Amino acid sequence: MSTTITLTGAGGQIGYALLFRIAAGDLFGPDERVRLRLLEIPAGLAAAEGAALELQDGAFGLLEHVEVTDDPAVGFDGADHALLVGARPRGPGMERGDLLSANGGIFGPQGAAIAAHANSGVRVTVVGNPANTNALIAAASADGVPAERFSALTRLDENRARGLLAVELGVPVSDIAGVTIWGNHSATQFPDVAHATVQGRPILDALAERHGDVRAWLAETFIPRVAKRGAEIIQVRGSSSVASAANATIDHVRDAALGTGERRTSAGVVSHGEYGVPAGLISSFPVRSVDGEWRIVEGLDPDAWARERIDRSVAELVEERDAVRALGLL
Ligand code: NAD
Ligand code: LMR
Repeated sequence: MSTTITLTGAGGQIGYALLFRIAAGDLFGPDERVRLRLLEIPAGLAAAEGAALELQDGAFGLLEHVEVTDDPAVGFDGADHALLVGARPRGPGMERGDLLSANGGIFGPQGAAIAAHANSGVRVTVVGNPANTNALIAAASADGVPAERFSALTRLDENRARGLLAVELGVPVSDIAGVTIWGNHSATQFPDVAHATVQGRPILDALAERHGDVRAWLAETFIPRVAKRGAEIIQVRGSSSVASAANATIDHVRDAALGTGERRTSAGVVSHGEYGVPAGLISSFPVRSVDGEWRIVEGLDPDAWARERIDRSVAELVEERDAVRALGLL
């Protein structure tokens, strides 16, 4: 068996961090061969071609074929999974939403090319920022491909939240489960620990032992630290996250393809009105992956404190949707 993966922005930083992990079998395991289609713009072709040479030199047993192109019709031909990474990253002092006009225009034509050339069961993961609204644009342009096949990466935010909680509680990160990211992959996101556990016990109890007023610690320390972690990385390393973003992309696509069972994770997926999120928006929700589909976990009943934070982030998604409509991108 083999799976065809299209990676846009393959000559960029995240592309370079992703390619060798995909070739090594980190997405689908040791029995599934992969065919890679690397889509770039002309300015990025040389870097993608260089990466393709290095892939060959890696002698990866699972890697069946690599194609480098700047033609979306070729790039998306026969794709089973499309990873839309190619877009400009933000620099210091910018919010991700500032990239809407620079990057939004990339995703309509790519959505149309996916509809025209990818396999009928294609799954699309958007990483390029602002990821939720770029996914919305791509889905809206992909006639005949259900919007449910498009998702935006918020797994990096979930991984960041779990990592920070593990450090806070002095436990391995694998002991932390059930953290949910709601809303936008932006500074308004709501990392929710109401149903999270540490070593199987409610994490709120463990946090209460350290911080009497857990809500204050969450509101003043934890939530802003997670939500602004991307900016912190940009400030400290001088450019936006790369290896952690590639790692989260691997986690997300592997879960999409192989399923999560009862484990809950987070992804930006199309709303049908769940939790009051306007239908059609691509918002992060608690999800499971079942039979090749993202399913929103329902019945969690966020309280007023959580509701206010979810609504704030969803309001930003509405603003972004209206802004791209005004730009003629939707
Ligand atoms: P980069 O500048 O290193 O690479 C981007 C690549 O995309 C470049 O090689 C560029 O030539 C290519 N590209 C631009 N337009 C393209 C198009 N139309 N088709 C194909 N390729 C195109 O940037 P990076 O560090 O790899 O980041 C890529 C994107 O991922 C940025 O928008 C960044 O903000 C975003 N990002 C998202 C998350 C997340 O969690 N969702 C995390 C990290 C970064
Ligand atoms: C991140 O979260 O690291 C990325 O979305 C890059 C950014 O601009 O923050």
